Amino acid sequence: MTNDKKLIIGLFGFGVVGEGIYRVLKQTPTLQAEIKRICIKHPDKERNAPSGLFTTDAELLLNDEEINVVVELIDDADAAWHIVSNSLMNGKAVVSANKKMIAAHLAELLQLQEDNQTSFLYEAAVCGSIPVIRNLEEYYDNDMLNSVTGIINGSTNYILTRMNEDGMPYAEALKLAQQLGFAESDPTLDVQGTDAANKLTIILNHAYGIVSAPNDIMCKGITQLHPADSVYAKEKGYSIKLVARAQRVNHTDVAAYVLPTFVGPMSQLFNVRFEFNGVIIGTRLADEQFIYGKGAGRYPTSSAVLSDIAALRYGYKYEYKKSRTGVDYRITNDHVLRVYVSCENMSEIDLQDFISIDETYISQNRKYITGSIRFDKLRKAGWLHNPANSLIVFQDAEQVENHQFEEL
Ligand code: HSE
Repeated sequence: MTNDKKLIIGLFGFGVVGEGIYRVLKQTPTLQAEIKRICIKHPDKERNAPSGLFTTDAELLLNDEEINVVVELIDDADAAWHIVSNSLMNGKAVVSANKKMIAAHLAELLQLQEDNQTSFLYEAAVCGSIPVIRNLEEYYDNDMLNSVTGIINGSTNYILTRMNEDGMPYAEALKLAQQLGFAESDPTLDVQGTDAANKLTIILNHAYGIVSAPNDIMCKGITQLHPADSVYAKEKGYSIKLVARAQRVNHTDVAAYVLPTFVGPMSQLFNVRFEFNGVIIGTRLADEQFIYGKGAGRYPTSSAVLSDIAALRYGYKYEYKKSRTGVDYRITNDHVLRVYVSCENMSEIDLQDFISIDETYISQNRKYITGSIRFDKLRKAGWLHNPANSLIVFQDAEQVENHQFEEL
């Protein structure tokens, strides 16, 4: 698509973000983008837009040859897949924020883009307003990238901030995150870490060219955290955050997980609060760089969607350059993490799983240990699934085989 062509948009979804982008586009006339039709699921809901724009017939948009851009902002991942795959096959450019659908169909989506040579942009799917994907695609376009570590789910960060700073009960904080439009319509995706795992699946592709499935990523959300864990964190000066991490541990292996993490005050992630997201990019040359911004909510997410729509004016496509570096990066389970595990009953934890134990604490209310454990052992540990046990990793927990990197 070139910049002499007007963008005629078919919009799917008129929820928090769909209505946001509708309003934003009305106030951005210089973009020369016009929403021709909006496809919705519930025709009886009152909408703040002319009724003639709306339809419930997806095919009407998909088969409309005048529509050259589809903006997909629904939360049903299966329906989104139908919309996006058909649009790409029909030669339409697509902008999507549907991380669940993209992570689930990553390989097919890569193939569809290749086959149809169409743009498929999804900056809003990862960290809302923060340009993570485009940075990984365009700027960190070499093999000097060591790690991507971030708070990439706004709802859980909002909940943890409210609980730890205001003493708000979990259920109340979650309800607020839903009311503010941060949470998924199925909030278990947020609190169990699945949403962050979906986003990390996308990040792994743009950072390392890895095509994986969300299930390949070890993921624990915030539901098993216990109040005693916050007491431990406060005593040690840490903050507990749900952190997603992709860390190159040697030339080809990348550790990848979403886990509650103790973050110290020296980390940039320490002060990432409420629905904000923050991503630390570790590189061999530049050391660490940090990008920060709102990760959820109507207008922050709309800003990323708007930026993708604007990029279509000059025919921007992701090039997925990392897939062609000649280095076959893969996710590894063969590394060691330093962790904290708290429980009601120490006999619940199989201490044989640990390589070493640094600290053991036993009180009437709660027991904990800290120590080092091989990641594959941790993934398979039955005791981890017991909701009475909680796991928190220490930041920068994995041992990187630095000797395997050549000296500069
Ligand atoms: N539920 C998501 C979050 C929305 O809280 O981060 C933005 O992806």
